[in-house]
Amino acid sequence: MIQFILNNKRIKTNKSASTILLDFIREDQHLKGTKSGCREGDCGACTVLVGSLVNDKAEYKSMASCLTPLGNIAGKHVVTVEGLNNKFGLTPVQHALDEHAGTQCGFCTPGFVVSLTGHALSQNFAKYNEAINFVAGNICRCTGYKSIERAVKDIADGLKNKPENSLDWLIEHKYLPEYFSGIANQLAEIESPKITEGEKIIGGGTDLYVQKADETSDTDAKFYLNKIELKKIKNENGFIKLGASVTANEMMHSEIINNYFPKIQQWFKLISSEQIRNMGTIAGNFVNASPIGDLSIFFLALNSELVLKKETGNTRITALNKFFTGYKTLDLKEGEYIEEIRFKIPDTNFKFNFEKVSKRTYLDIASVNTAICYTTENNTFKEIHISAGGIAPIPKYLSKTKEFLTGKDLNAENINAASDVLLSEVSPISDIRGSKEYKKLLLKQLFFAHFELINEN
Ligand SMILES: Cc1cc2nc3c(=O)[nH]c(=O)nc-3n(C[C@H](O)[C@H](O)[C@H](O)COP(=O)(O)OP(=O)(O)OC[C@H]3O[C@@H](n4cnc5c(N)ncnc54)[C@H](O)[C@@H]3O)c2cc1C
Ligand code: FES
Ligand code: FES
Repeated sequence: MIQFILNNKRIKTNKSASTILLDFIREDQHLKGTKSGCREGDCGACTVLVGSLVNDKAEYKSMASCLTPLGNIAGKHVVTVEGLNNKFGLTPVQHALDEHAGTQCGFCTPGFVVSLTGHALSQNFAKYNEAINFVAGNICRCTGYKSIERAVKDIADGLKNKPENSLDWLIEHKYLPEYFSGIANQLAEIESPKITEGEKIIGGGTDLYVQKADETSDTDAKFYLNKIELKKIKNENGFIKLGASVTANEMMHSEIINNYFPKIQQWFKLISSEQIRNMGTIAGNFVNASPIGDLSIFFLALNSELVLKKETGNTRITALNKFFTGYKTLDLKEGEYIEEIRFKIPDTNFKFNFEKVSKRTYLDIASVNTAICYTTENNTFKEIHISAGGIAPIPKYLSKTKEFLTGKDLNAENINAASDVLLSEVSPISDIRGSKEYKKLLLKQLFFAHFELINEN
C-alpha cells in the first residue's frame, strides 16, 4: 500500500506503484485542475509540488506529474492547484496572473500557478530571474508571455519581505492555505516503505515514461529516486562522490559542487526545466545512453568512474568512458545497478568548461554538447579530458585529442592542430538537429570556445 498526502487529504492506495500520478489525480481523485497536455514533460500543464520532510520541515519541489510514478511520491505531500486555494479568494500568485492578463484560455494557468508558488516556497525567492527560471518549463500558447512576465515580476517583488524558510509568512500573506502548517507533522507520521514490486529500476522516470509510458506504468518496479543511500554528495578521500539518484537540481544546489564548479548554475539551466531537473537522476542519464546526454558529457570530461553494484552486494568499478559500448548499449550486467559516480578532485589550478548548443536555448536537447577539464604546468598540458555529444553513436570521450594535447604547450597553434585530430575521431550523422557538416563545424567552434571562455576567467 502506498501512502501520501494529496493537498489536505491522506491517501492510502493499493494501486500499482508504477501508476502515473497525473492519472491518479485526475481519474481517481477527480481533481481536474492539473491538466494533461503533452504527457512528455515539455509543457508544464501537469506541474505539481512535491513536499518532503527535511530537518523537520516540509521542502517543496515542482515536478511533472505526467512522468511521476506513485512510487516516487510515497510518503510525500503532493500539492495540486486545488490545494493552493484558500478561503480568502485568489492567492497573490493567482491575483498577479489575473491582474496582468497572464491567463487567456486558462489551460496552462494551473501549471504556472503551481510553478510560481514553488518559487515562493524556494530559497531563491524575490529574484525575477529565478522566478522566470521556475516557469521555464511551462508553455503558454495564448498570451505571448509578456503578460506572464509582468505577473512574474509582481510576484517576485511581492516576496521581497519574506524571511528565509518562512512557511508562516507565506500562510499569513495568503500564498498558501492554513493546512500547510500541519503538513510537516503529518509527513513525520507517514510511513514511506521501500517499494519493490519487480526488477525494473525507475529513477525520476523522465526517460522511461516518455519513451514507454504504457509499458512502464504496467511494470512492477523498484523506485530509486528517493533511495537515501543513493542521494549523497560527498567530498571524501580525494574524490567527489555522487549517489546515482542525485538529480541535476541537487547538483546545482550542492555546496560541494558549487565550490568546484562556480558556473554550474549557468550550465545546468541549459538542461531541461526546473520540473525535470528535480526528477531526472545522474544514473538515469547514463543508462538512457543518449549520445547527447548532458550529464554523461559533463562527467566524461571529469574522467569519472562508476561504482556498479549487484543486489547480492558485489561491487565493481568501471571508467565512465568504458561504460558506453555502442549505440544504447552499456557495460551493465544483469542484476547490476549504478550506485555511485565519482571523480578525483582535480588539482587546484584545474580548468573546466561545458558548452551546449540546441535549436532553442532552454528546454531543448543538444545539437552538440562538449566539456573539457585540464591542468597545465608551465603552460604545458599536464592532464586533459574532453568529451562531446551529438557527434557519435555514444557520448564520446575524445581520447585521441587528449593524447595529442598531453605534454604540449597551450597555444593557438596546438589548439588549432588539436581541432583537426578532434574532427578525425567523430562521426556525426545528419538528423533534425543539424547536418553532419554543421555538427562538425559546431564542435570545432565549441572546442575553441572552451579555451576562450576558460582564459577569460
Ligand atoms: C522535457 C524533458 C527535457 C529533457 N531535457 C534533457 C536535457 O536537456 N539534457 C539531457 O541530458 N536530458 C534531458 N532529458 C532526459 C532525462 O531527463 C535525463 O536523461 C534524466 O537524467 C533521466 O533520468 P531519470 O532518473 O528520470 O531516468 P529514468 O527514466 O528513471 O530511467 C532511465 C533509465 O535508467 C535506468 N536507471 C535509473 N537509475 C538507475 C540506476 N541507479 N542503476 C541502473 N539503471 C538505472 C532505468 O532503469 C532506465 O532504463 C529530458 C527529459 C524530458 C522529459
Ligand atoms: S502534460 Fe505536459 S509536462 Fe506533463
Ligand atoms: S492561456 Fe491558453 S495556453 Fe496559456
